[in-house]
Amino acid sequence: MTHETAQPPCAGLRIGDTAPEFEARSTMGPVRLSDFSGRWLILFSHPADFTPVCTTEFVELARAASDFEKRDCALMALSVDSLFAHFAWLRIIRDRFDVEVRFPIVEDPTLVIGRAYGMVAPQDNDSATVRTTFFIDPSGTIRAMTCYPANLGRSIPEMLRMIDGLQAIDNHNGLAPANWQAGDPLLSSPSQNIDDVYNADNASDWFMKPAAKGDAT
Ligand code: BEZ
Repeated sequence: MTHETAQPPCAGLRIGDTAPEFEARSTMGPVRLSDFSGRWLILFSHPADFTPVCTTEFVELARAASDFEKRDCALMALSVDSLFAHFAWLRIIRDRFDVEVRFPIVEDPTLVIGRAYGMVAPQDNDSATVRTTFFIDPSGTIRAMTCYPANLGRSIPEMLRMIDGLQAIDNHNGLAPANWQAGDPLLSSPSQNIDDVYNADNASDWFMKPAAKGDAT
């Protein structure tokens, strides 16, 4: 497959799609996606256990566990490695970094889940998943996704900010602007009424205004 025709990871799924159901073994016992119905879920893939960048991601995610918990957001990781490789890696992480990873890490040796979610880079010769992250809302809808290369670790503060933003948008019916952080005001959706365009005091008011009082965070 040429670079031009290769489907990028995540290409099979879009924002607004229902996250595909699956059932698998994990470090926290058997899991199904639907077990997380009613909660926010960050489902993410990593290329391989026992690798440096992935190790830093798991250490930092485990350290931030209470921050995700406060947001009622569960975490679930996935890679092609076996359940027993996951266990061995988590033990090493605990011993070296003094932190226990207590969210499920799914084994996906046949990549059946990774392929359903577009987590596998088709141009790669090996079958490792890349760093895809799916933000799934309590109704099981994919609300956002990111894809990072193997050699760049994800930002845990940005993952938290994305959950904060998605929750604020839902709770307050607004739009989160660039660099929005929890507690910042939201913006209103632009008016679709020509009278608002002509009657506004300032020319930009119809498309650029804070969310109505009570709607902002
Ligand atoms: C890492 O996590 O460090 C890594 C994984 C796969 C390829 C390169 C780096």
